[in-house]
Amino acid sequence: MTTGDTRPIRLGLIGTGLAVKKLHWPALSRLADRYVVTAFADRSVAQGEHFAAYSGVDPAAFTTDHRALLDRADVDAVLISVPIASLYEVARDALAAGKNVICEKPTGTDEEQAEAFLAFETEYPDRTVLIAENFFYRDDIRHARALLDDGAIGKLHLMAWRHAGQHLPREGTFSGTPWRHRPQYRGGAHLDAGVHHIAQIRMLCGDVVRAHAGVQWANSTIDAPSDLALNLVFADGAIGNYTASYAEIAVPREPNDMRLYGTEGVLVLAGPESERRVTLTRADGTTRTDVFHGIDNGYYAELCNFADAVQHGEPVVGTIRQSYANMLVVLRALDSAEQDAVMALDDVAAGAVQLWRPRGASGLFDGLPGERALDGAIR
Ligand SMILES: NC(=O)c1ccc[n+]([C@@H]2O[C@H](COP(=O)([O-])OP(=O)(O)OC[C@H]3O[C@@H](n4cnc5c(N)ncnc54)[C@H](O)[C@@H]3O)[C@@H](O)[C@H]2O)c1
Repeated sequence: MTTGDTRPIRLGLIGTGLAVKKLHWPALSRLADRYVVTAFADRSVAQGEHFAAYSGVDPAAFTTDHRALLDRADVDAVLISVPIASLYEVARDALAAGKNVICEKPTGTDEEQAEAFLAFETEYPDRTVLIAENFFYRDDIRHARALLDDGAIGKLHLMAWRHAGQHLPREGTFSGTPWRHRPQYRGGAHLDAGVHHIAQIRMLCGDVVRAHAGVQWANSTIDAPSDLALNLVFADGAIGNYTASYAEIAVPREPNDMRLYGTEGVLVLAGPESERRVTLTRADGTTRTDVFHGIDNGYYAELCNFADAVQHGEPVVGTIRQSYANMLVVLRALDSAEQDAVMALDDVAAGAVQLWRPRGASGLFDGLPGERALDGAIR
């Protein structure tokens, strides 16, 4: 839906928990020219009061009933950040109420709900819907994708990524939210966090066509598998392995880096949120490392894309279909582990993830938060 109206989008927040506090509000507060929060809903009065206190949004704009928020005429669009088991229901209500929607990932709890989520694309073709898969918007991943598109490593033949760390419920952190300990969705952290990793894999390696996986249940604090070892075949023939472990005990510090091996070079994505690094090693052994500081993991950029889609008709990069494809890789991996069988994914391929660029900009990072040292130059 294009409004052609460049006044700030009147945004309603549904769910004002940790994701809003830590991820979305910091980005929204930098985007006052694009968004104004006119209403917010949370089932918990305490959460609503907390949000009003740190954001400065008028407490009178609060309700505990998301349907009451959806009835408001001064809400053009909603940002849905409720627990995974409620995302589908709230998104359905918001679309039925005529709102544009930016909705947290994943697209539902299981394959049946993912299909129903995907059906929104045909049921509401005039509505702007963006699934908040921030990895599609992350600067280091977009940079890596641009290098790959430029042929920096030749033809990709192997992807290798191990992601392992201790995972215990910790008060005040994402792992501490009770709905994550006894998840009412398949796969626990492998769906919750795993869809981000699969987003990165699909953005850099393309669609997955076959998957074979095993799982282990070795963390008594979560009612879900702790370990996933997944072998992948990509549409262009490359192969890959993704291993994720959410361990109960402390594990040695792991590099957790993703390595992409090509015919003419190797690309490594590494580093924590505070310092992301993309290193290219060429066939002659020479290297180049690009460093990203203070980038916000894509939350600012996804809000820019959503506003540009609503106001200017720009294409959405984080479509339902792309997030559905990420999710289906996780779900079919779980199926594979249960059935000890190779699972096909050709039927759910979404095609290449588009490389998002700031609207009207020539560079990949124009106007975005953070600092980058690219090929020795600070930008
Ligand atoms: N993109 C990311 O990096 C990222 C990171 C964390 C969480 N998330 C996603 O954000 C969502 C929320 O996660 P969180 O960590 O903020 O959880 P949370 O439990 O901290 O917050 C969720 C809030 O939603 C409220 N709520 C539940 N049902 C509601 C309803 N029907 N109407 C209004 N409010 C309702 C709860 O009271 C709670 O305050 C999840 O879907 C999760 O997948 C995404």
